[in-house]
Amino acid sequence: MTKTNSNLVWHEASVSKQERHARHNHKGCVLWFTGLSGSGKSTLANALDRSLFDAGLSTYVLDGDNIRHGLNKDLGFSDRDRQENIRRIGEVAKLFVDAGTIVSTAFISPFQSDRDQARALLADGEFVEVYVKCPLEECERRDVKGLYKKARNGEIPQFTGISSPYEEPETPEITVDTSVQTVEESVEQIIGWLEKHHILT
Ligand code: PPS
Repeated sequence: MTKTNSNLVWHEASVSKQERHARHNHKGCVLWFTGLSGSGKSTLANALDRSLFDAGLSTYVLDGDNIRHGLNKDLGFSDRDRQENIRRIGEVAKLFVDAGTIVSTAFISPFQSDRDQARALLADGEFVEVYVKCPLEECERRDVKGLYKKARNGEIPQFTGISSPYEEPETPEITVDTSVQTVEESVEQIIGWLEKHHILT
């Protein structure tokens, strides 16, 4: 047992991560999808999840809109709230990885420092940053939820890409460009990467 602070004591798990890997026949990891609103994060995370789940793997998706209905419903879109949003998701993702799951997270996560903090919670190789690249003009053209129009009209303050910054990942493990690739091509690219790096065997 490791003592972490005055009155808290860490309990070691009775089932090891290696035992969970052996049962699932694959390692746990987080696929951290990041990109502008409308870039395709949720679509890709869910398409990948379908594919991995159908192949018998232990998987899950954490999605921005959904998590903000529950766990993070107290948070808005100030820089500080986004930071807290990502901090909590990083911790939740870590729990999924500890449980041996391949968890895909779909959050704008606009700040490099917040993504780096989430990465730092995990062991080497367990955090895979997936940059869902798509030019702002294309996201705005798609405007699936009508949010860009509202943001341009001043109805949504601090909207990412319009009135709030998005920092492109500096060294993502994977970049997919949804303005030129199909969903199937992007999913294939991600699965290829996971195989090459022995996360999928
Ligand atoms: S963040 O920046 O990571 O904390 O955001 P996230 O938790 O992923 O939530 C993004 C979704 O919230 C909706 N939405 C907004 N996005 C950006 N800026 C503002 N101001 C905003 N207000 C609401 C929007 O539907 C985002 O979903 P996606 O799937 O990214 O389009």
